Amino acid sequence: MTTPIASLSQDELKTLVGQAALRYVVPGEIVGVGTGSTVNKFINALATMKDQIKGAVSSSVASTERLKALGITVFDANEVQSLSVYIDGADEIDAQGYMVKGGGAALTREKIVAALAKQFVCIADASKLVPALGNFPLPVEVIPMAAAQIARNFEAMGGTAIIRQKDGQPLVTDNGQHILDVRGLQITDPLAFESQVNQWPGVVTVGVFAHQKATVCLLGCADGVRTTTY
Ligand code: 5RP
Repeated sequence: MTTPIASLSQDELKTLVGQAALRYVVPGEIVGVGTGSTVNKFINALATMKDQIKGAVSSSVASTERLKALGITVFDANEVQSLSVYIDGADEIDAQGYMVKGGGAALTREKIVAALAKQFVCIADASKLVPALGNFPLPVEVIPMAAAQIARNFEAMGGTAIIRQKDGQPLVTDNGQHILDVRGLQITDPLAFESQVNQWPGVVTVGVFAHQKATVCLLGCADGVRTTTY
């Protein structure tokens, strides 16, 4: 079910911002591509200018398959030194451009590709804009043998962590690891929080994107696409 915002559905808002992101794609270059339903709209739009770009660096197996199916060349991240722009969605974004990501379990590769890029353009429907991060369960990619220890660390912070399941089994990420989803956290200082959690042994990536925050957000709203630069 989509939640209608004025006359446009959530799906239509995603299409709108996916198309709006095309103006950040630099002709002749390689573009960084994220993961998720909003990014899928962007990939559809990108296909209309595939002959004008060199290709893409992708943040997930799912996006890679979609890009290739539409005839867009996908480069390995190791083949590029930098990107002008990385375009991705978010589960939450605040007024500073700090985000929670990883609802699609692709957070580690998303952070890697984002770190290659000069600009992070976040594309999201209006429901993703929040006053403070922490309502969406925080995804954390972990090495399975450390999961219980990391869950206890989150409990000490007031959170509750569960291992994400798929078909009755722990979900296995593109990197062969597991995801903890953590509820009940108050992330008042995203930069400090990201640094702290990243240091725990067994944490591959925490889904707070503060050091790799958005530089631009294209937010799909009832009155069109609202552009915010941070
Ligand atoms: C995937 C992500 C996505 O960007 C995030 O979950 C938003 O997805 P959607 O556009 O489907 O709402 O971080 O790991």
